[in-house]
Amino acid sequence: MNQQTALITGGTKGIGKAVAQRLLSEGFDVLLTYGSDIQRANEVKDELASAFPSSRVYILQADISDLTSIDLICDYVSDNGLSIGSVIFNAGLTDRTDFHQINPDEWKHVFDANVHFPVFLLQKLYDQMQPGASVVFTGSLMGIHPHSVSLVYGVTKSTVHALVKNLVKFLAPKGIRVNAVAPGFVDTEWQKTKPAKIKANINAKIALGRFCEPEELTDVYLMLVENKYINGEIITVDGAYSYK
Ligand SMILES: NC(=O)c1ccc[n+]([C@@H]2O[C@H](COP(=O)([O-])OP(=O)(O)OC[C@H]3O[C@@H](n4cnc5c(N)ncnc54)[C@H](OP(=O)(O)O)[C@@H]3O)[C@@H](O)[C@H]2O)c1
Repeated sequence: MNQQTALITGGTKGIGKAVAQRLLSEGFDVLLTYGSDIQRANEVKDELASAFPSSRVYILQADISDLTSIDLICDYVSDNGLSIGSVIFNAGLTDRTDFHQINPDEWKHVFDANVHFPVFLLQKLYDQMQPGASVVFTGSLMGIHPHSVSLVYGVTKSTVHALVKNLVKFLAPKGIRVNAVAPGFVDTEWQKTKPAKIKANINAKIALGRFCEPEELTDVYLMLVENKYINGEIITVDGAYSYK
């Protein structure tokens, strides 16, 4: 059994929750952060704690758009004596305000959450991370293909992919590896407001003709946590988008 703790941001729903379940099933302890849905967070804590009684499930509210959450997380890690062996930067924000209307505060809000928060959390958490730890970002296919609606989302996810490559050198002294998974379209609450017609248009572009289930991504996250030589990679999992 592997009792190192994996920190997963946005670990109470969607992709983050699926990754948490997978890591728990492999014997990891998990620290799951979330933004605002306290009721769901408590339900998930109870659900996972009873499904995986030999592992520890810690839950912490920590808004990624507020950089003071960085101290909150680091203090929680040290107060609970956690040994962080992997960090999954999964939570992300978008802003669909029209390009001609978006203001600098709204733009910065998304940059704070998707880019500044992971950079400065890593800076502060570095000493509390185990040598040989693994950092995995959730990037996006929309960081590779230009986004048709949200400029700031596409640019921040491209930046996340660039961060992976650029962080390698700075984390290598401690043997810490850094990679990203770039999912295509995943059937989570994130996508729930997308009209059926738009979903059908997207499915028509995907060779497999459907959205990904969050559980179908978890093999890739587990591999990036456990493999000791993959470093600086962005792994796209999109069912072959635009092959049709
Ligand atoms: N779904 C897709 O098609 C897709 C595709 C490519 C990439 N992604 C990326 O995958 C990641 C997860 O998306 P998902 O689809 O799994 O979303 P989701 O099902 O909506 O889950 C989002 C998770 O992030 C947390 N969260 C939301 N806002 C937060 C905030 N301000 N601070 C801290 N935590 C926050 C949520 O907790 P609360 O609800 O309590 O706030 C929840 O635990 C995101 O980075 C997204 O960009 C998603």
